[in-house]
Amino acid sequence: VDAEGRRVFELTLRSGSRQFKDGAATGTWGFNGDYLGPTIRAARGETVLFNIHNTLGETTSVHWHGMHLPPTADGGPHQSVHAGTTWSPSWKVDQPAASLWYHPHPHGETARHVYRGLAGMFIVDDEESAALALPKTYGVDDFPVIVQDRSFDGDNQFDESSGLFTNVGILGEEILVNGTYAPYLEATTTRVRLRLLNGSGSRVFNFGFTDGRGFALIGTDGGLRAEPHGTNRIQLSPAERAEIVVDVAPGEKVILRSYAAEDLDIDPFSQRFDGGDDVFDVLELRGAATLTESPAVPGKLVDVPKLDVDKSTETRKFQLSGFNLNGKSMDMDRIDFGVEKGTVEIWELENGDQQFHNFHVHDVQFQVLKVNGENPPEHLRGWKDTVYLRPGGKTKIAMEFKDFADPDMPYMCHCHVLYHEDQGLMGQFVVL
Ligand code: C2O
Ligand code: CU
Repeated sequence: VDAEGRRVFELTLRSGSRQFKDGAATGTWGFNGDYLGPTIRAARGETVLFNIHNTLGETTSVHWHGMHLPPTADGGPHQSVHAGTTWSPSWKVDQPAASLWYHPHPHGETARHVYRGLAGMFIVDDEESAALALPKTYGVDDFPVIVQDRSFDGDNQFDESSGLFTNVGILGEEILVNGTYAPYLEATTTRVRLRLLNGSGSRVFNFGFTDGRGFALIGTDGGLRAEPHGTNRIQLSPAERAEIVVDVAPGEKVILRSYAAEDLDIDPFSQRFDGGDDVFDVLELRGAATLTESPAVPGKLVDVPKLDVDKSTETRKFQLSGFNLNGKSMDMDRIDFGVEKGTVEIWELENGDQQFHNFHVHDVQFQVLKVNGENPPEHLRGWKDTVYLRPGGKTKIAMEFKDFADPDMPYMCHCHVLYHEDQGLMGQFVVL
């Protein structure tokens, strides 16, 4: 904490190497360490200041995915951090407790920078969530689970080439969790909380346990749910998060697996080549011989106030098709639209393709109103900043633009399949 009461973080972007598996070490990028970055933690109401030092040989940026903050601190493609320089954004954290994340966002290069290892989790805490009887001791019964697909070439280096016949860019054939190959987690409590982040560039994961056990979905991208939802599957497209609580028995072993994705591509050929049929073992959960008893998951979590859609003043339509948003490719010098500060907007998202996309909006957490005309499924009820868009599907979302107006600096909205984003499936808007 500095003299002005700001919590100060130092993050150095650097290259390194890591021994993921037998054989040669793999060349990597990371924040402070060799691969990924530290879990950042800040409480609602705190002002944070980051000193981001770029020691990589090239320009990048660092975006705070899911964070409500001024556009100048957002870390999008306009906040370049050039090689050898330091960028120092600061803002007051003011949003519900959530599992957010951070990653580079240089225009046209995001997929490559994330693939090399630049990503980390950013946990926001608040009093309401701290008061709940949920597992919350970091590294003991509360774990970040950053899931990424990677391919290694014959020399154990990351293979950055796109798959054959795929429309989504790089699809890795192996899984890293928190930068660990063939990971396991030894639980010492009867319940563990997993903060799942799909940190892949293009791959969709459909998580479940190999014995079919249920778990409680307690949080979505932007915070805790109103109440837990019992399920045995949670599908996450790139950048989406889910917080789950799962029961563990003493001495047992169970695997968190990613199953074939649902609604990925209409065409069976693309379904296969875009990774929809792939199954991966993600993480082995091992129960210690004796476990500390955890409290039951509370039946009520937090208030998730419904956005007042009736007072919305603007409905916009967005079509994602090819690498274009509403027929246009991203142009750094073009602002696509302006929204009025203090208003609720409804956005109608349409996937005009035979294959999947998703959609992410900077600065806000939104609520899903409809999916193909129906009320949203349970796993989409809660704060979201990224939503999966099935082929040919329509999804209606609502969001409120608060606090930060800046006619000169835009926020981004885009497909978070990083290859699509890099190819231009992104637009820019200002809050006025
Ligand atoms: Cu996670 Cu615009 O990004
Ligand atoms: Cu896309």
